[in-house]
Order: sequence, then structure tokens, then C-alpha cells
Amino acid sequence: MKKLIAGNWKMNGSLAANEELLAALAKGLEQRPSCEVAVCVPAPYLMQIQTLKSKSPALAAVAVGGQDVSGHAAGAYTGEVSAAMLKELNCRFVIVGHSERRQYHAETDALVADKTKAALAEGITPIVCVGETLAERDAGRTEEVVKRQLAAVIHTNGHCISEVVVAYEPVWAIGTGKTASPEDAQAVHAVLRAQLKAATDQSGRIKILYGGSMNAANAAALLAQPDINGGLIGGASLKAADFLKIIAAAN
Ligand code: 13P
Repeated sequence: MKKLIAGNWKMNGSLAANEELLAALAKGLEQRPSCEVAVCVPAPYLMQIQTLKSKSPALAAVAVGGQDVSGHAAGAYTGEVSAAMLKELNCRFVIVGHSERRQYHAETDALVADKTKAALAEGITPIVCVGETLAERDAGRTEEVVKRQLAAVIHTNGHCISEVVVAYEPVWAIGTGKTASPEDAQAVHAVLRAQLKAATDQSGRIKILYGGSMNAANAAALLAQPDINGGLIGGASLKAADFLKIIAAAN
């Protein structure tokens, strides 16, 4: 299966900085990559990114995604962005259940499952994030935690689960420079793969990405693991040279 390298810009960027970053990516992507590439950008910039894309053939290979979506279809939910709105802005992907949403915005497993469903209803591929905290890892609870998080999404989405992308992002590895070793990451990915296999006979087509301090130096070793089908990249996706190196490692 094709690998997917997705950048999560988080709450970073500006009109000027985005333009500069995309121009540098376009230069590096003149030769079309053999992996899939996406950038998940702050909602206010979706239109700008689509406009820049339309002007650059090299950026045709870059899919666009949101970073969060409402679990509701429409209505009085101030500040929320619906899946239909993301669809109108040509989003292929949307991140759901990122640990920063779970941690700072009290998102529950049930809410993440509803958001996944809302995205799927609009034909947008949700990138469902799961991952344990350092305390949970130290307590030997990694497997239990990621399985619980994924189980909620499987339960709510039934056979549609084969349409999602899963991202394993150990919370202790996010933005810290600490990465799970390729072997440790692979072990968790294998657990998630087995759980998906039990849920659908289409599990073989579900991409499971690794995220958490993936960078130009460590990407190749992580991406070489059998159940690591790509990366969800934070900090390194803001630097064109680094992001391009990770894309090259996935090619
Ligand atoms: P970093 O790559 O900055 O560690 O972030 C990972 C992440 O949270 C991607 O969603």
C-alpha cells in the first residue's frame, strides 16, 4: 500500500509563511512523489492553501486536510467547523482525536467516534489519533489505552471503519524530540492492526501512521516497519526541507 505522509501544522502559520512553505514544497515536489502527501492546516487557511494549489501543478500531489471537525452536522455550535464545510473546501482528510484535543479540550472517546462518523458521512477520510501518555506507558497500560480509544471508533462506525486512517501518536513523543523506537512503535501498530482485522475483513487497506517527533533523521527506520504505513508529522512539517526529506524516505 502507498505510504501517507501527512503534515499537521497545528496552530502555526500565517498567510505569508504558508505561501513561502508551499512554494518550497512545490519546488521539492516537481518530481511527483510515489507516496501520498497531505497537509492538515488551520481552518482559516484552507481556502488559501486550495488557491495556492490551483496555481501550482507540483502541488496537485498534496492533499489538504483539516485538524478537527464537529461531531454535529450543522446548527448552533459556535466556533465549530462542520464536515460539510471541510468538504466544500475540498478537504480529503481531517484529523480527529488528536491528543492535544483530548488533553486540552476534554474530548472523550465517544466524541472522537462521533467526529469520525461526521467526517465519513461527508466522504472525508478521518485520521483517527490514538496514543498513551507517559504515565500510562510507565504503568504498562499502552495496549489497553490505545485499544480502548480505537474500540470506541470501531463501535460507532461499524463496517465504515475500513475507510479511516489511524495514527498512533504516543503523547510522550509529541513535540518532545523523543521518538518511540521503530520496534516499540511497530509492536503497538501490530496490536492496532489485529484489532482492525477483528473488526473488518478490509483491514489490510487501513493505513496506520506513526506520529511523535518523526523527523528527517528517524523517518526511514520507522517507515521500514511492516505495519507503519506513513507518518503524521508536526514540527518537521513546518520546515519544507525536513518535510521533503520525510517524503523522500517514504518513496
Ligand atoms: P511532532 O512531530 O511535533 O512531535 O508532532 C506530532 C504530532 O502531534 C502530529 O499530529
